This record gives sequence, C-alpha cells and structure tokens, in this order.
Amino acid sequence: MQFSRRNGLALLGAAAVAACDGPRGAARLAGLGGSGPPAAPAGLHAAATARGLRVGSCFAWGAPGDDRGSFANPAYAALLKRDCGLLVAENEMKWQALRPDATRFDFSRFDAMINWADANGLPVRGHNLLWHQPKWMPQWAETHDFGATPARAAERLLVDHITTVCRRYGTRIRSYDVVNEAVNPADGGLYQTALSRALGGPEATLDLAFRTARTAAPGAQLVYNDYMGWEPGNARHHAGVLKLLEGFKARGVPVDALGVQSHIVTQGLDTRGAIAALEGDWRRFLDAVTAMGYGLVITELDVRDNALPAAIGPRDTAVADFTRGYLDVMFGYPALRDVLLWGMTDRYSWIEGLEPRPDGVKRRPCPYDAGFVPKPMRAAIAAAIAAAPMRG
Ligand code: G3I
Repeated sequence: MQFSRRNGLALLGAAAVAACDGPRGAARLAGLGGSGPPAAPAGLHAAATARGLRVGSCFAWGAPGDDRGSFANPAYAALLKRDCGLLVAENEMKWQALRPDATRFDFSRFDAMINWADANGLPVRGHNLLWHQPKWMPQWAETHDFGATPARAAERLLVDHITTVCRRYGTRIRSYDVVNEAVNPADGGLYQTALSRALGGPEATLDLAFRTARTAAPGAQLVYNDYMGWEPGNARHHAGVLKLLEGFKARGVPVDALGVQSHIVTQGLDTRGAIAALEGDWRRFLDAVTAMGYGLVITELDVRDNALPAAIGPRDTAVADFTRGYLDVMFGYPALRDVLLWGMTDRYSWIEGLEPRPDGVKRRPCPYDAGFVPKPMRAAIAAAIAAAPMRG
C-alpha cells in the first residue's frame, strides 16, 4: 500500500479507535488473533442495547482511500462497527443523488453503502424520500415541464420515485424519513416546490408521499423529519410542525414518528442555566407530539459550539454537558428508542463547511475529534445512555 498523508491519518484514526477498544482492538489492528478472554464491550452500541435503545450515525459513500465519512475508510468503518447499531446515508438517498433526471435512477452509491452495512449486520434507515424544499430538490425537478395535466404528471413522478426506492430495498430498510423539512421556520407555513405546485399544494403532496410509502413499504416506520431545535426563536417552527402533525392525524395519513433532527446549538458556558431556560417549552412541544400518538426518533444529533470560547477544554466540556442535558430530557420519553448522530467525527462534519465559527476556529460538533480520539461528548452520550430508563 502506498503511504500518503491521507491514509496515514486514517491509520492513526484506526489506532485511536483500537486503543479505546482495549487489548482486543489493539490486537485486531495489528492483525493478531487475540487469544485472551474478550474485553468487556465498551462501544456505544453495546451500552445502548443494554438499555433497549439503539444508537447510530450517518455515513457516506467514498471511493477506497477517500478521506471522508465513508465505510471505505477503514478508520471510520471501525468506528461505525464499534459504536453503531443503525446507519443512515448522509446524502446518497436524496433525490439529488438518486435522480439524474425525471426518468432515470442511479442507485450505485447507495447500493454500495447498504451492501456494506448488510455485510456487517448494520441496519440502515432511509433518508429521505422527499426533501420538500425547492433548494434541495434537483434543479431539473424545479424546472420540470409537467405538461398538460400537471397534477397527474406530478403524482406519477412522486409515486414512481417512492415506490421504486421502497420496493428496491424491501424489508432491508425498516424506517424512512418519508418527508424532510417541509415547514418553513420563518413563518411555520409549508414550503412549495414545483412538484407540489403541479400536484395541487403541499398538503396533498406530503399526504401522497406517506400514503405511497405505506403501500410500498408496509412494514416500515414512516417518519416526518424536521430541524426541531430547542433553542430560543423556534416557536413558529414548533407551531407549524404541530399543525402539520395534527393535520396528518385528522386526514388519516400514515405517519408513525417525528424525526427530531437535533442539530443543537450551545448557548454559552452556563449550560445548566441554558438547559433550565429551554427545557420547559421543549417538553411542552414533545408532550404535544407524543400525546397525538407519534413516536420520536433523534435522527441527526450534533452540536454547533456557538457562544463558547475557542479553548478546547472548556468548549468540549460545555458541548458534552449540553448534549447530556438534552439527551436526559429526550430519554425521559418512552416513545424514543433510536438516536442517530450526524457523523461520528469532527473530521467529516457538514457544519464546518456550511456554518464555520465566526472566529475561524474549527468546530467540534461530534463525539470523536478530527483524529478519531473520543471527546467528552462521547462520554456524555455513554453516560446519558447508561442513565436512560430501560425500554421494554
Ligand atoms: O457530491 C458533490 C460533489 O460531487 C461536488 O464536487 C461537491 C461540490 O460542492 O458537492 C458535493 O455535494 C455536496 C454533498 O453534501 C456531498 O458532500 C453538496 O454540495 C452539499 O450541499 C451536500 O451537503 C449536505 C446537505 O445535507 C445537503 O444535501 C450535507 O453533506 C449533509 O450533511 C446535509 O444533511 C442535512 C440532512 O440531509 C437534513 N437535515 C439537515 C442536515 C444538515 O444540513
């Protein structure tokens, strides 16, 4: 194997993962058999399973040797296998990835990912069947000519998309984010896309998406997935999501759970004070959701380390404490079983690219740092899992 800085870093990362796996991990990394008794399982997956929970992460497609959050990167693969009992493709099931145009599908990347996950006994969630925002639909879909009977053409396009994806994976995928981020946080209303305009409005479009998914994947958990922050300034968004969920119930639309993405944002070093200030409204929102009979899934947990100093020590401690406080509230809801991180290491997190810190210091949003070394956030997740009420 040719040694490059890239795969050198990957090996360093693998060493860090192996190190936290104890002697068994070190032996595995060195290619040794490991003849002694197996070390006690210390991964997050084992800890979660013991409480009746599941913990997981997004992952990505990558060519062998690519330094990204891919299963093809041995260091990342080792981490996913150790800590996760559930995976989700970060981008590769989105329309932008699957649909080069209105008639074709390209499943090559997602297929490679689910095949790797299956081979390693890791279930995969589907994200997502419809990202209901013009910005995140492929460009061709926003300029598509729906012809003389637009409602019928739009319906055909949506039904064909969802049916094709769900039938292809059958029982291999048991939970889908059917609709992603349909509510505009600015006013709580529903977005319009070219598809929904042709189809007769956003409600008709979302309802059709869920009904089609139920038919095409009858055994799967169907999730409405949205940003759902507990930070101040989200009241309109919460109200809009509640209204949408109430509407689904009133119309008999088959939606099983709310996907609470959980891209949470620290509010300063006083995490205890922040949590005390946020908790009440947040619980009222979750109470309203669960009172309607919806399940909860944490689909995309990570932390934007805002309003915190650049110094790594206090920053990591605040991120960990904030995560712990958030998970403690969430685990109080029996309707929650699955918690997925939006990436395991700071190295690949989307946040750095899309929302860098104003002071230019690298963000630290994930449980492992950029060198794959576990951070206080990982310990906080483990502690929250250990303290979670047991699921039956
Ligand atoms: O794959 C192309 C590559 O070929 C091209 O060279 C490059 C140049 O920009 O772009 C690459 O695509 C990028 C893709 O990530 C894969 O890296 C897109 O530009 C970029 O927009 C895309 O960002 C993703 C974003 O969703 C939009 O799809 C992030 O990785 C992903 O973390 C983020 O995830 C979302 C969830 O799906 C929904 N909830 C919020 C969450 C965070 O924004």
